[in-house]
Amino acid sequence: MGMAKAVLLVTSLSVLGTSAYIWPGPYDLLEDAYTVSGGFADGGIVAGVQPCSVSPFGFLPGRQAAAEWLRVAYHDMATYSTETGLGGLDASIGFETDRAQNIGTAMNTSLLFFGAFQSKTSSMADVIALSVILAVKNCGGPSIPFRAGRIDAETSGPETVPEPQQDLASHTASFALQGFNVTEMIGLVACGHTIGGVHQVDFPETVQNAITPPNPEGMVHFDNSFDSFDNHIATQWIDGTSTDPLAVGFNGTTNSDARIFAADGNATMRAFARDNEYFTSQCGGLLERMLNTVPSTVQLSEVIEPLPVKPHQLMLSLSSNGSLVMSGYIRIFGDSDEAASANAAAMLVKLSWKDRNDQSNTSYFTSAVAVSEPSSSLWGSVRFFQINSLIDAQSGISSFVIDWAFNNQETLTHSDNGGSGFPFQDVALLQADKSCITPSSRPNPTTTVFAVIRMDMGPVSSAYIDYTSNVIQQGSIAVKQVTSRFPLAHVGNSSSPLYDTYNVSFPTGENTNIGVITFDIVAVIAGKTYASLNNPAIITEC
Ligand code: HEM
Ligand SMILES: *[C@@H]1O[C@H](CO)[C@@H](O)[C@H](O)[C@H]1NC(C)=O
Ligand SMILES: *[C@@H]1O[C@H](CO)[C@@H](O)[C@H](O)[C@H]1NC(C)=O
Ligand SMILES: *[C@@H]1O[C@H](CO)[C@@H](O)[C@H](O)[C@H]1NC(C)=O
Ligand SMILES: *[C@@H]1O[C@H](CO)[C@@H](O)[C@H](O)[C@H]1NC(C)=O
Ligand SMILES: *[C@@H]1O[C@H](CO)[C@@H](O)[C@H](O)[C@H]1NC(C)=O
Ligand SMILES: *[C@@H]1O[C@H](CO)[C@@H](O)[C@H](O)[C@H]1NC(C)=O
Ligand SMILES: *[C@@H]1O[C@H](CO)[C@@H](O)[C@H](O)[C@H]1NC(C)=O
Ligand SMILES: *[C@@H]1O[C@H](CO)[C@@H](O)[C@H](O)[C@H]1NC(C)=O
Repeated sequence: MGMAKAVLLVTSLSVLGTSAYIWPGPYDLLEDAYTVSGGFADGGIVAGVQPCSVSPFGFLPGRQAAAEWLRVAYHDMATYSTETGLGGLDASIGFETDRAQNIGTAMNTSLLFFGAFQSKTSSMADVIALSVILAVKNCGGPSIPFRAGRIDAETSGPETVPEPQQDLASHTASFALQGFNVTEMIGLVACGHTIGGVHQVDFPETVQNAITPPNPEGMVHFDNSFDSFDNHIATQWIDGTSTDPLAVGFNGTTNSDARIFAADGNATMRAFARDNEYFTSQCGGLLERMLNTVPSTVQLSEVIEPLPVKPHQLMLSLSSNGSLVMSGYIRIFGDSDEAASANAAAMLVKLSWKDRNDQSNTSYFTSAVAVSEPSSSLWGSVRFFQINSLIDAQSGISSFVIDWAFNNQETLTHSDNGGSGFPFQDVALLQADKSCITPSSRPNPTTTVFAVIRMDMGPVSSAYIDYTSNVIQQGSIAVKQVTSRFPLAHVGNSSSPLYDTYNVSFPTGENTNIGVITFDIVAVIAGKTYASLNNPAIITEC
């Protein structure tokens, strides 16, 4: 019985795996942040909205990060025009924070938080989209599918964010330009205004007498469950107990929610009030469309779901005695009951590799050991297993597969990354223990990278580092990623007769403290390119 269930699960996961995502993928960092929400290898985004009521950075009273992130995304998207195909979710909001229509520091505090997740493979716009998906889910709302591939604007968009003093015709026209009809406008506003509220400091013509010592910004919530993504915004509107300052506020001019909610004679709001599940599912669809409203030239990826099996910080290095050491982690995700109840310490996770000639051998395997610190996911159960294995340098490695099971009574599941195994090259390797950054010359430090490159494959025609740093953009907290290439110089021998040592020193550039720095080590040998991708910035001081 338990067996049959496991087989079914495996089949559906492998179907997902082949159609969607192969490792390494272009959005691995986003997939990590999507999948792991706490504990070991925490993706880090959910921590900012945990619990749903929490303030930005945990100390700004009367503020709610989850609501602010949702508002940021809407205001960013609201620059879209169905007529020009320009605007949409493109992080142009970074350049628009000084506008009256984006009043408040929430835009900048949100972007500051998101900045930590910007990288070569994660645009600010993708991080904004992901932040909404995680915040909404963590507040009890719908599961919104995540697609990546948004491209950040390098300048501001038009001033088209709706404001509360505008009339219904203006709002209808604004939403139409953004691609939403009247029913959808009502839905999107209700789905937005189910968490958070209005701050008196920013909207004194809408909220009065709300500022108190514990509520220094004078926050008044939209409904009686501001930290739950539920239909109370609708039930309270329909039963006449609404406290929404934009619906029943003292100033009729700014009661835009009242005009919008009643725009179809309350039909949509009545349907929301009757059925929380209907509300939730409508919000899921509308917010998905909101997040996927992007410039017409942008092509979004397939839906990204947690990979069932994924390497984490897995690397190969050359040790001082000439052997290769494979170290890092394997992540296992599942959303079944069996996954939920599994005991990591009793799980079997075996990594088997192929050598550099693509040959298997029964001796080419290592067993991964459960990491004792647990991890969490909003979408299921996730666990990490540590790899630490010697690999004979002569035979090397080219790929691996993972065979695993939730318990030792079960047939192993074979995970081969969509068919051809997880690629893992032994040609261009970082020498992390020799690489360093100068401490003395901050804020413009010099990074020295040492690498080893295989020398038994013919002449190395080209070897270099592609270093992606984050550059400040005037007028926005969001940074821009710039990749610079630095040629690696041949130094001499290494601890292994099979590898030569290379190095390069380069100015690391202004340190913005925002964004993730990564670099690739690339070697071209006999017309083929071998790369060690997305190594983290060197932080060991020289
Ligand atoms: C006619 C359309 C809209 C108008 C006039 C409007 C207006 C406002 C105003 C005045 C606030 C108070 C902001 C503050 O004090 O910090 C607010 C908050 C908010 N809005 Fe809207 N809004 C509209 C549509 C939307 C949409 C479509 C969404 C998202 C789907 C949304 C999401 C939010 C959220 C989450 C908050 C709470 C922010 C917080 O608590 O800090 N709004 N809105
Ligand atoms: C808006 O579009 C939806 C379909 O996406 C449709 O069900 C609804 O009736 C439309 N509303 C109006 C007012 O046209
Ligand atoms: C109501 O809001 C409008 C538009 O913001 C403003 O012009 C007016 O002064 C406000 N009325 C009061 C009584 O605050
Ligand atoms: C819509 O609901 C509001 C709030 O309950 C109510 O005041 C208003 O009369 C309703 N409008 C229509 C057309 O039913
Ligand atoms: C070589 O170094 C590795 C890593 O430090 C170590 O695990 C291994 O035992 C060493 N092998 C020999 C033969 O000393
Ligand atoms: C597997 O590896 C062992 C030890 O290195 C070697 O003796 C054997 O020939 C290999 N088998 C195959 C099939 O390559
Ligand atoms: C947000 O930050 C940017 C960049 O530092 C700055 O230019 C802008 O004035 C800030 N906006 C607000 C409202 O503080
Ligand atoms: C390189 O070769 C020299 C001379 O044989 C030796 O002294 C040195 O230790 C070697 N370097 C490494 C990294 O093994
Ligand atoms: C590369 O390493 C050699 C040998 O350790 C050293 O002399 C040289 O200064 C290094 N070059 C750079 C650019 O760091």
